[in-house]
Formats: sequence, C-alpha cells, structure tokens
Amino acid sequence: MCKQFGQENVGTSVDVTHAREVLPTNVKPRHYNLTLEPDFENFTYEGSVTIDLDVVEDTTSVTLNTLELKVHTAKIESSGETVSDAPSLAHDEDGQTTKVSFDKTIPSGAKASLTMTFTGTLNDNMAGFYRSSFKAADGSTTWLATTQMEPTDARRAFPCFDEPALKAEFTVTLVADEKMTCLSNMDVASETTVDSKVVSGKRKAVTFNKSPPMSTYLLAFIIGELNYIETNNFRVPVRVYAPKDRDIEHGRFSLELAAKTLDFYEKTFASPFPLPKMDMVAIPDFSAGAMENWGLITYRVVDVLIDEKTSGASVKQRVAETVQHELAHQWFGNLVTMDFWDGLWLNEGFATWMSWYSCNVFYPDWKVWEGYVTDNLASALSLDSLRSSHPIEVPVKRADEINQIFDAISYSKGSCVLRMISKYLGEETFMEGVRRYLKKHAYGNTQTGDLWAALSDASGKDVEKVMDIWTKHVGFPVITVTENSDSIHVKQNRFLRTADVKPEEDQTLWPVFLELRTKDGVNKDLALTTREADFKVKDTDFFKLNADHSGIYRTSYTPDRLAKLGEAARAGLLSVEDRAGMIADAGALAASGYQKSSGILALLDSFKSEKEFVVWQEIISRISVLRSAWTFEDQAVKDALKKFALELTQDKAHEVGWTFSDNDGHIEQQFKGMMFGTAGVTNDEAIVKASFDMFNKFKAGDTSAIHPNLRGSVYAIVLSNGGKEEYDVVLEQALHAKTSDERNTAMRSLGRAKSPELIQRTLALSVSEDVKAQDIYLPISALRTHPEGINALWAFVKENWADLEKKLPPSLSMLSSVVSIATSSFTRREHIKDIGAFFSDKSTKGFDKALAQSLDSISAKAAWIERDSEDVKAWLKEHKYL
Ligand code: BES
Ligand code: ZN
Repeated sequence: MCKQFGQENVGTSVDVTHAREVLPTNVKPRHYNLTLEPDFENFTYEGSVTIDLDVVEDTTSVTLNTLELKVHTAKIESSGETVSDAPSLAHDEDGQTTKVSFDKTIPSGAKASLTMTFTGTLNDNMAGFYRSSFKAADGSTTWLATTQMEPTDARRAFPCFDEPALKAEFTVTLVADEKMTCLSNMDVASETTVDSKVVSGKRKAVTFNKSPPMSTYLLAFIIGELNYIETNNFRVPVRVYAPKDRDIEHGRFSLELAAKTLDFYEKTFASPFPLPKMDMVAIPDFSAGAMENWGLITYRVVDVLIDEKTSGASVKQRVAETVQHELAHQWFGNLVTMDFWDGLWLNEGFATWMSWYSCNVFYPDWKVWEGYVTDNLASALSLDSLRSSHPIEVPVKRADEINQIFDAISYSKGSCVLRMISKYLGEETFMEGVRRYLKKHAYGNTQTGDLWAALSDASGKDVEKVMDIWTKHVGFPVITVTENSDSIHVKQNRFLRTADVKPEEDQTLWPVFLELRTKDGVNKDLALTTREADFKVKDTDFFKLNADHSGIYRTSYTPDRLAKLGEAARAGLLSVEDRAGMIADAGALAASGYQKSSGILALLDSFKSEKEFVVWQEIISRISVLRSAWTFEDQAVKDALKKFALELTQDKAHEVGWTFSDNDGHIEQQFKGMMFGTAGVTNDEAIVKASFDMFNKFKAGDTSAIHPNLRGSVYAIVLSNGGKEEYDVVLEQALHAKTSDERNTAMRSLGRAKSPELIQRTLALSVSEDVKAQDIYLPISALRTHPEGINALWAFVKENWADLEKKLPPSLSMLSSVVSIATSSFTRREHIKDIGAFFSDKSTKGFDKALAQSLDSISAKAAWIERDSEDVKAWLKEHKYL
C-alpha cells in the first residue's frame, strides 16, 4: 500500500526517489507527545501518542508507520474539534503502515492532531523498544527496557512518520517503578505520580523537556536500574550510565574523552551542542557497536566501558574511536540529517572520518592516520573491488535493504572520499566548508550535493565536478603506469578482484588525483580525468603515485619499478602510508591477476627489515590473505607458505619481544602483541613455549600471567596446539571472566581448536543460552582459520538454517554476518555451486548483498589459484620453503 502512495506522489518523474517506499505527503508531523509504560512481567508496554500535524493537502486519511503494534484507539482532531473518534484503521503489514481514514475532509492549511493508544512488545530482538537484562548480585535476572530505532524501527516502538526528513519535536513521558532510572534524549522537565496502566497502584511518570526538531530514528528512551558517573568538564553535564552489575568506574575513560571531544567539536564546527545534557549508556544487549541518539548515546558494553588494567591498547583505541564517532554524529546526522537513506554515507562516512581526525588531535602519538591505510582504505578497496559492490549513493527502499548498506562502502569508502577531498582542499578549507554546511542546514535535511556546494563555497573550487563520480559510481580504478625516459604514461580502468572486467563495466572515468611523489616532494596539481595521459617527470629514477594513499585507487607498476620502490622504501624515501599502501596494492594486484603472485612474495620478503607497526600490519595481512586463499590446497604447499610466514615474521617478533613495561607506547604495545601472535600461530618454538608457560600459570591462578596485549594470541596458540584441557580453561573465561573484553577475547578464540569434538562444542555454544545473539559472530569467527572449521561451520549453518532464521530476524544485521562468516572463507568453484544450491529455494531477504559478495570473493580466489598456483609453488621451491 505504501508503495502505491510513493508511486502516486511522483507520477512519471524519473527522479531517483521514484523507487522509495515513502509515506503520502498530505500531512507533516510537527510534534509528538508520547507516553510509554513498560510491563516487565509480560514484556509488553502501554503507549499513547498525540501527533500534531500540519495539513498540506485536503485530507481524509492519514497514513503513518506502525510495525507489530496493537492499536486500540485512534482519534482525529482539528481546530479544537473532534473530526472522528473512531476512524477506520487499515494495517498494511508488508508496507509497515496504518492508514487512518475518516469521513470529513480536513482542509489544506489546517492544523490537526492524531491520538492513538497502543500496546507494543518489549521484544528480545534488539530493535524498536526492546528488553535487555543483566544479573543482579543475588543471581536473579534484572530487566531493562531500551531502544534502537535506526534505521526503521521507531515504527516498532510507536506509530510515527518514520522517515529521516520528517523531523518533529518530541515530548516524551516514561512511567515506571520508583527504583528505575528513566532517560530520554532531553533532560527531565517534571516528575509526578500517576495511576499505573499495567500494575495496580501508583508509579512515577517522568516527563522530559521538548526536543528540538529531529528525525524519528534518533529518538531514544531507557528504563532500568542504572548507576552513573558525571563530569562537569564540558558546558553541559556529561554522564556515563551502566547497569548496576558493572563497575561504573570503567566508564571514566569514555566520560572524560566525551567531555573533551564535545568541547572540541563545538569549537571546530562553530556550532554549540544544542541539548542540555549528554548521556552515554552501556546496554547489555545491543546489535550494533553504538548508536548516536541525540543526547542519549547507547553502546554495546565493550565499546564504552574499559578497565585499562585488564584491556590492551587496541581495545582502548576502539573505545575512543566509537565515542568520537557517535559524538560527531551529534552534528553530522543529528543536527543536519540526510534526506533519505541513500544519503546514509553522509552520516557514516563523515562520522568515521571525524573520529580519525579528532583521535589524531587528542592522541597524536597513536598516529591514527598512518593506520588509516590498513584500516578504512583497505576495507573500502576490498569490498569495492567486487562486482556486487554498490555506489556510495545507492537507492534503497525497504528496511531489509537499508540495513545492508551499513557497510564498508558507506563507512570506509565514504570516509575515504572525504579524506581525499580534505587533502585536495586542505584540512582548514575543508573544515570551513563543513562549518558552512552545518550552519546552513541546521535542523534540516540534505543531499550529497549540499555538502559539495558548501565545500565549493569555502574553497572557490568546483567540488561537485570532481566528487560526483566518486559517490554516484560503483568501484574505483587501477592506474597502470608505464615509463619513458622523461615521462610516465598512466591509464585508468575499473578494478575488479575477479579480473574479468567487461567493456560495459569499464565506462567510468574517475577524476584521479595523482599526487606524484619525487625527490622534490609531492606534486599536488596533477589529475587524470581522461582514460590515459602522459606526464613529464624530471627524474624517473625515483617516483611514486598516490603519495600517502589519499587517493581511492590501486597503482600497477612494472615489476622493475616495483623492485625500485622496494629499494626506495629501504632508503627512507617513502612515508609509512606509502610503504603500507604500496604493499597493499601489490598484494591486491597479484590476487586479481594484474601481477604474478611470486612478485608479492618477493616484495614481502624484501621488507624484513621494516621498522614500522603499520607496514608490518599490511605485510601480515597480505600473507594471510594469500594463505587463506590457499586453505583448500595441497598440504605441502600450505606448510611451505606457513614456513615462509614464520621466517618472515619471527626475527621481528623476537626483536620487539613480548614483555611489557609502563614505558611502552600505544603503538609499541600493539606491535609486540601482533608480532607475537603472528609468529606464534605459525609455530615459532619460543613463542609457543612462552604461550604455554603463561597459560599454565594463568590456569594455576595467576590472573596477571597473560598480558592483555597478548591474551588473544596466547589463547589462539594454545588452542591450536592443545586439546580439551586448554579448551575448557578458555571456555571458562569466555563464560565467566570479569570484564566483557576478557570474555569476548576468550569467546573469539575458541574456534581455533581443530578437533572435530571441540569444533562441535564451539558450534553448539554459538546458539546456546550462553552466547547472546549480539555475540554470535564471536565463537564462529575463528573457525575460519582452518579448513575443518570452515566445512563444519557451513554444514552447521545448513542443518540449522530454520532455527538461525528464527533466532536472527532478517531485518537485523546478524543473519547477514552469519551468512558472510559461514561462506566467505571458501575458495573453490564447487563451493560456489554448493552455496548457490542451498540458497536457491530460500529467501535471501536481509542478506542478499552479503551473499553475493561472498560468492564474488570465492570466485576471485578460485581464479587466483587457477592462475598462480604453479607460480607460487615455483617461488616456494626456489626459496627452499618447499
Ligand atoms: N549509526 C550507527 C549505528 C547503526 C548501525 C545503526 C547499523 C543501525 C544499523 C553508529 O553511528 C555506528 O556507526 N556505530 C558503529 C561504531 C563506529 C565506531 C564505527 C558500530 O555500530 O559498529
Ligand atoms: Zn555512525
């Protein structure tokens, strides 16, 4: 039904919005007065809502979004009179709407209000208004009620106009027991006592101040037994809340960082944070990592609470990133909002970029921009090299489609596009454009073009012209470089990992900033806007394209040039980003057939003396990509690759060592942890022995025997070399360790155990009561590190498909992750057939993108092996690994 309205509205227009399923536009919501009272006995809640409407066309019906709500009564009023106190209600389950129809016509220009009463379910699917729980000190289960509205679950919580452009003000009232803390986006206006609608007797009714105009997906309310800590280091109070079973002091790091970050953002954006308070809450059951609800950010526990004594450096960095990401949304997303979900990247790309920007300001020694190349740039280029990728701006209609675009394209490629333009304009000019954008569109909605317009305004450059193609077209180019004595020739083509680009897929000409590095520095003025071109280079002895890898492309050099770049790296002529990026490019080009795999093996081998963490991260990632593509190949070749990986990493691992002191920097800690783990899982004898020593001490009760930066690696090493005894110790940690981080690290390792019996235990555990639905990916992920695990996991998913579908509704993201984890590690054409056959008679709603991407990535691996298995074998033989 809703779909028909959408089509009616735009008639025959060719506007991209034609495909959207949107509500009719005859009325506009202005204000919601919403009251909710949960019933923790029956897991339901009673609600009532009055929505003030501007009537913009003569109106005899109002259609709004509802989902799984039982509507009891509805009433329409206009100009102080009742238009109807029993309008007819037509629910459209598929369209997720209710149409409220009445006999009289409300004229265009009038005001009206719609009041509805309803009962909803406090569901356990982490969507809408849902229930979550924790164990009280006496072991009893304590319930709390919380919300997750984004993208389209506000309609599950209450009847509403659930589209980002339909902003309105909200006045929320929560009714609950005295002992409950009640929170919403705004601060408390009043507290009264009322007759309860769900229990006999009185309860408190907490009414919050009216919010500014905002989108429904940003609304939040929480009712639970919570503790908090507060800081006054920002203009308005900032608090961290956690369920009463947690040590609230673990919120201290996030609390202080939030206060500093809010202050920094409001100055940087020249736009004061408009709400009277900022609360951040740890929620025990939470589907995403965190959610930017305006003034009431919700988090998965591990992403906001941290015990610095028991967690490693990378955990701290993730918490900082998450806090700064959600706070960036308070402006970018909440104050200024995309007008529809195909503009999601504006939210997520910007918040991602901004969290890096601010992390760099607060923690310069973390050198986060160096890591950007192995993190966001790598994920963007990886997903976007598949045929089944999508443009940054992608038309989406339904909830199950919208959920699927919270992916590396919206987040990582989106942020890469911003990094590219910010480098091109200069960060100061870029930020000036952002300030103008926020000022012009505060409390409004935008499209991508509005951002480009503001950046053009600030820079005097035609930003849209260079950026449009990057957001509207799928993919990115590979730039092939050939050389003459005093010039280089560059040519661009669409890059596909499967190396089978068809001419019709190779039509886009991207505006590419070449950022040519020579001995004289970086030339920022060169751009390739045509298919191919020649550029003069004074001295071709040393040059490299894409300095610092702020461009979204791969560069393919001749083998000679690649060897020379390896020398340049050793001679100190290249930045960390250049070195990591160059290895990444060479690896991706080998995997997709542009170059020989022996070339990347040789290149990696030549980097043994490399000193920097980030470059090693890329080296390790490339060898592991190759090894996992070879998972189902000959054991002898696999052993040889393992030996190569060991010899490549072990000297470095021993050099940096695995003891920690308070003087170790943030990067150094991670460096030691990473080298220890990599050399250890490839069987470095000393490290394996050290791991068992630490593990056995730990098992005997010495809780500090394993350093937090090594914990995951030690578990992985003892589980892949040990048996049931080790498994039981790690399992005990997964279930009962003190902090969520410690439990997760253990849970994430269990899949390393390879014996059939232990694999079955890990699989059974993943769907048991002991693992929350939010954590299902943890136990199964490590099964992908061995062929036995990959096969067993896929067999398990096939056998238990019906249960999984029930447990993980396709409208959420978890089923999609499970499908991806269970299929993407396969490598052969027969695997593609098997997976295709299994899903051929099933609905792939909610995970069709993930599935297509898995199949594409398998076919890329299959082609890679077919092409290069002899080449790899020959190289391994020549270098005595085989
Ligand atoms: N807006 C998202 C949360 C979200 C994700 C809602 C998917 C609905 C569907 C939030 O801002 C976010 O991006 N969270 C990230 C954390 C961040 C540090 C990348 C997450 O959940 O992982
Ligand atoms: Zn986000």
